[in-house]
Amino acid sequence: MIEISEVSKAYGAGKARFMALNNVSVSVAQNEFFTLLGPSGCGKTTLLRVIAGFVDPTEGTVTMDGDNLLALPPHRRPVNTVFQNYALFPHLTVRQNIAFGLEMLGKPKTEITDTVEEMMALVQMEGMADRQTSQISGGQQQRVALARALAPKPKVLLLDEPLSALDFKLRKSMQIELKRLQTETGITFIFVTHDQEEALTMSDRIAVMHAGSIR
Ligand SMILES: Nc1ncnc2c1ncn2[C@@H]1O[C@H](COP(=O)(O)OP(=O)(O)O)[C@@H](O)[C@H]1O
Ligand SMILES: [Mg+2]
Repeated sequence: MIEISEVSKAYGAGKARFMALNNVSVSVAQNEFFTLLGPSGCGKTTLLRVIAGFVDPTEGTVTMDGDNLLALPPHRRPVNTVFQNYALFPHLTVRQNIAFGLEMLGKPKTEITDTVEEMMALVQMEGMADRQTSQISGGQQQRVALARALAPKPKVLLLDEPLSALDFKLRKSMQIELKRLQTETGITFIFVTHDQEEALTMSDRIAVMHAGSIR
């Protein structure tokens, strides 16, 4: 489904030139739970940002279902991201956070209401629809961030170390939860982590990254 071919990303110039990604080629199948595993600084987030459209690669190509993804601005790509720090709107309610992307897309009101209900059920947050996200726990915020990213029904969900802020017990249960969500929605997941056990628990396939390369 996604074909990343000979992608490099250089930051800086001259002596300060630094290769954050070095000739990365990898493909991800439809419906796969695919994980990028590697230590801090190895280029995981950079590669996710190339797929999302927030970073332009210096070289290489990225296609989705055969189409050139790099030609599309981020908001036109059928891709959504769950960030490590959740990036929720604290002054909005759970319901308003989940509806946000759908409103930006100009979806009809009834469709938004239905989708938000569906997403709250999916992440088991139905009882908290009208709470502000500053008034719910970290684990609950993570569920809302997931629901918000899933609501526009992206073909691909990018998850950048989404569980690393959670305590051990919650992280374990969210690992199972994420796997369930991926199976139920049929969405392709590209998951980033530096935690080997986490990668092995959830993934269909794992790419091990080191110093800007896939090993
Ligand atoms: N905007 C930037 N400018 C310069 N260097 C960057 C920039 N973004 C990331 N880097 C560098 O690229 C390398 C890879 O970063 P990153 O993709 O965030 O790694 P990871 O997510 O695996 O921790 C790091 O050495 C980082 O310092
Ligand atoms: Mg990172």
